[in-house]
Amino acid sequence: MFQVMLLRMNRLPHPIPYQGSKRSLAPLIAPYIPQDIDTWYEPFAGSAAMTLWAAHHGIARRYVISDVLAPISELWRTIITDPENTAKQYHDIWSGQATAGTEYFNNIRSRYNRHRDPIDLLYLICRCVKNAVRFSKKGDFTQSHDKRRLGMRPERMREAIFGAAHILQNKVEVRCGDWLDTTTDSRIIDFVYMDPPYLGTTVGRDKRYAEQLQLDRLTAGLSLLRARGVRFALSYDGMTGGKVYGEALPEHLSLTRLLLHAGRSSQATLAGRHEETIESLYLSPGLASPFDGVLTRENPQGIFTFARAS
Ligand SMILES: C[S@@+](CC[C@H](N)C(=O)[O-])C[C@H]1O[C@@H](n2cnc3c(N)ncnc32)[C@H](O)[C@@H]1O
Repeated sequence: MFQVMLLRMNRLPHPIPYQGSKRSLAPLIAPYIPQDIDTWYEPFAGSAAMTLWAAHHGIARRYVISDVLAPISELWRTIITDPENTAKQYHDIWSGQATAGTEYFNNIRSRYNRHRDPIDLLYLICRCVKNAVRFSKKGDFTQSHDKRRLGMRPERMREAIFGAAHILQNKVEVRCGDWLDTTTDSRIIDFVYMDPPYLGTTVGRDKRYAEQLQLDRLTAGLSLLRARGVRFALSYDGMTGGKVYGEALPEHLSLTRLLLHAGRSSQATLAGRHEETIESLYLSPGLASPFDGVLTRENPQGIFTFARAS
């Protein structure tokens, strides 16, 4: 039944519609992932798009997903271990909204900010502006509701929850905590995929995530992985319309940096501009040869001409 569902969805299930999810970039990242992984780690999981991709393709023997945001980790736990109840609770919360009005959303947001219930968070992610989560320093959800959409319908969410649970059940361990703590047991036979928040969104004015991540801490953590011989891939700084986010990683890490075409910037499109977004993929030694151009979905080996905004 689940295979039928997956085919019907024609894409991998994606129950947590995080803005910036790596779902559409998975085919571009895939060629650089080794085929002999014992344990796959995704310590900045969010919607865990790459883990869903990896587990669907049987890339590793087991998987560890984690996030510093406890309700996100909790949400993954409940999706995997109790999809029926998770889908039912989402259905009940979603169905409580008679219209796309503000009041109901704001009530659920206040309830989440008091109790940190993971399924309230799922509803807020689905219903907030552009699925772009925003948190205050103390972890309160601060994003507003989207006036134009009602959020993922319960039937579609049910399929996505059951599809994800089917892919991940009995293979995944869910952890909660800082990425350095949740990957300390990674070994030379393992692989770590990391998609931390851009520095631009965590140390600038635009704080998307409750937790801050500084470049020196990220670099120190990557050095530890390198010292243990752990293979890894890191999605990192980006570039939109010629504006670069985040500093390049230090050369002493000896990483290979590839540029991936992530698509049109939705923020720029909304503002009436056409801007392309390019993301970096840093790989530990031995996983890729350096390549000067930008890799695109249409032409994964080709050279994409990056049109800078005038
Ligand atoms: C860019 S999002 C990851 C998106 C993910 N790749 C996806 O496909 O949806 C970054 C995630 O890292 C988490 N995070 C931020 N700081 C962290 C830290 N120090 N350790 C672990 N997770 C962290 C945030 O809560 C957020 O869910």
